[in-house]
Amino acid sequence: MKCFYYFKDRTRTREQRSAPELKEGNKYDVSTAERVTRSSCSATSPRSIPELYEEKAHNLRVFSFSELRQATNDFNRLLKIGEGGFGSVYKGSIKPVDGKGEPIVVAIKKLNRDGFQGHKQWVAEVQFLGVVEHPNLVKLIGYCAVDGERGIQRLLVYEFMPNKSLEDHLFNRAHPTLPWQTRLQIVLEAAQGLTYLHEELEVQVIYRDFKSSNVLLDKDFKPKLSDFGLAREGPTAGNTHVSTAVVGTFGYAAPDYIQTGHLTSKSDVWSFGVVLYEILTGRRSVERNRPRSEQKLLDWVKQFPADSKKFVMIMDPRLENQYSLNAARRLAKLADTCLLKSAKDRPKMSQVVESLKQIIQVSDEGSPSDTSFECVENETVDSDKEPSQTGASESAKRRMAHLVKLSEHVGGISRRGFMIMQRAKVT
Ligand SMILES: Nc1ncnc2c1ncn2[C@@H]1O[C@H](COP(=O)(O)OP(=O)(O)OP(=O)(O)O)[C@@H](O)[C@H]1O
Ligand SMILES: [Mg+2]
Repeated sequence: MKCFYYFKDRTRTREQRSAPELKEGNKYDVSTAERVTRSSCSATSPRSIPELYEEKAHNLRVFSFSELRQATNDFNRLLKIGEGGFGSVYKGSIKPVDGKGEPIVVAIKKLNRDGFQGHKQWVAEVQFLGVVEHPNLVKLIGYCAVDGERGIQRLLVYEFMPNKSLEDHLFNRAHPTLPWQTRLQIVLEAAQGLTYLHEELEVQVIYRDFKSSNVLLDKDFKPKLSDFGLAREGPTAGNTHVSTAVVGTFGYAAPDYIQTGHLTSKSDVWSFGVVLYEILTGRRSVERNRPRSEQKLLDWVKQFPADSKKFVMIMDPRLENQYSLNAARRLAKLADTCLLKSAKDRPKMSQVVESLKQIIQVSDEGSPSDTSFECVENETVDSDKEPSQTGASESAKRRMAHLVKLSEHVGGISRRGFMIMQRAKVT
């Protein structure tokens, strides 16, 4: 899903034009200019991202265009691994800094030549990723910027993430189902990445584009947030928000931000809530090919509250009931708090992290009674709805093995419950 650009305030255009070249880092003061001044600022003002960048810029490698052309076999389309709103991503290999040893596999993003906007995002990405350092944020190795006779070229070189994105694993049927525990671990670590940006840096960073396609997965399925082109510095002390043009991705951006252009870290919290529902349901935030009432994920799930019996009906059928229902309900409740209408009522990301840790514990403990009979009822409903998904004998066998395990604990369970299990057995 691509980003959208909706410039509410055209008078800002001139300000944005003042976005500098990377080497003029200190002049990059767009975010400062746009901050809302509500009350007197505190005496100790934290350094801005460009200032912090000045300090750390030497950690980034500066590549020539020909080096990156060589690294990607002239941007060979066979090496293209993805395409986003801002350009194409290629797999490539570069020499180590000292020229010795094995080549390093990297991902190289080549920005489309769409002028100022692309350049601004490229600057933001280099500056933010040049400053931040966290196991759940993708590492920027270096960049390339050339303004030659043959036009402007802007490229970014990242550590290579071999397991694509969370989006690919949730929605692309070519990938095997992402297990429940892996989903939980991914959202926990993604939340830790956001917590670092919001709460653990000298200057607060608002990511502004949290979505499943920006959660990349390494060889062990450890998640790392990518794409910092839309990131912004948060409000300075005494201010409640940053006023900006509204940018982000449909289906993930917080409604209060879309309506007012007032950006806070709670806008990221909203987007995080959307992704929580994506991992629960296996559905994208917007799916145009569904019946009208099901197209918008958040509208659809509202009909199945976390506490209700029918909640199980929204669970991703690909999980084949291999999840803790208790944990799933708690996760949905957490998502609901992230999606509260009033931004200030949403939890901070560090609180979300704490809740997720507890949910993972509940899920690990996962007593068999936890996977209640509603789950089994749901199975019957799903079987009715999508026989092709549940009809495969292999998956039926696996489900049966699970149900058999459950039945070892049915001692005190009502006969009705047991009958439902039996029905599940024959579908
Ligand atoms: N560091 C990386 N390592 C491996 N693959 C990557 C890396 N960065 C990006 N990709 C691949 O390229 C794809 C496109 O990424 P990109 O960020 O350009 O677009 P997007 O996230 O799909 O959309 P948007 O432009 O809205 O962010 C990703 O989904 C991923 O598969
Ligand atoms: Mg992206």
